[in-house]
Amino acid sequence: MQLIDGKAIAAEIKKEIAQEVEEIVKNGGKTPHLAAILVGHDGGSETYVAHKVKACGECGFKSTLIRFEDDITEEQLLKEVERLNNDDDVDGFIVQLPLPKHISEQRVIEAIDYKKDVDGFHPINVGRMSIGLPCFVSATPAGIMELLKRYNINTQGKSCVVLGRSNIVGKPVATLMMQKSNPGNATVTVCHSRSENLKEICKNADIIIAALGSPEFVTADMVKEGAVIVDVGTTRVPSDKTKSGFKLTGDVKFDEVADKCSYITPVPGGVGPMTIVSLMRNTLLAGKKCIY
Ligand code: GUN
Repeated sequence: MQLIDGKAIAAEIKKEIAQEVEEIVKNGGKTPHLAAILVGHDGGSETYVAHKVKACGECGFKSTLIRFEDDITEEQLLKEVERLNNDDDVDGFIVQLPLPKHISEQRVIEAIDYKKDVDGFHPINVGRMSIGLPCFVSATPAGIMELLKRYNINTQGKSCVVLGRSNIVGKPVATLMMQKSNPGNATVTVCHSRSENLKEICKNADIIIAALGSPEFVTADMVKEGAVIVDVGTTRVPSDKTKSGFKLTGDVKFDEVADKCSYITPVPGGVGPMTIVSLMRNTLLAGKKCIY
């Protein structure tokens, strides 16, 4: 079994991006600028946004964090989105999710100029991705594809089972895995909470991408000998063994599955670090005005 070291690959990519930014700036170009809107004080969102801001620094980007209290109205937030759409210094921006219940996330996402939508959540980017046009691909699916590429994992003609059908991970990663590209060209099955014979379907898979958000769901009896396992799960499970009081737990029962598979992503240190790096790559693309 080989461990897929997302942390190491992410560090490598950040270095590559920083070198490219240095080159751009040296040649008189503009420093890429990412803005992030954070509404409220959700612990998880605070952590994610802090990591994104830190990664911007490592890549040589400019970053701006814009904070609002959670009583901001939808109208005020939409105004801020419009302001960022029209700010020529901001190449790309994100609105950290989830938003308070009184705000429509979909309305906010659709208000973002798709050319600045570095999260890749706007329907134009989702649609362009599904027909293989240049676009911002959402961060987690893009990170998974990059890991498969950098580890030279053959996906062509392979049977790939995606567990989970979320708009952010399951659906887009299934689309990318079936795309005419490398990695890609896989035969994809998407399983979800209503799927029958889920265990049997997994058992025949050459590649399993687990994105259910259900801790340790994938057990050894569901995995074919030599399969490739990508674990997207990051559930905070209470633990008395850590300082924070929780342990980040994947969708795969790592200890028993690791013995059976050819490659596996650990949690933490697998897909997670790649997600932030994908956002950095999208920001670089936005800075270079690659999406039109
Ligand atoms: N909340 C959890 N993941 C994400 C993400 O990738 N982007 C945004 N904007 N919010 C999130």
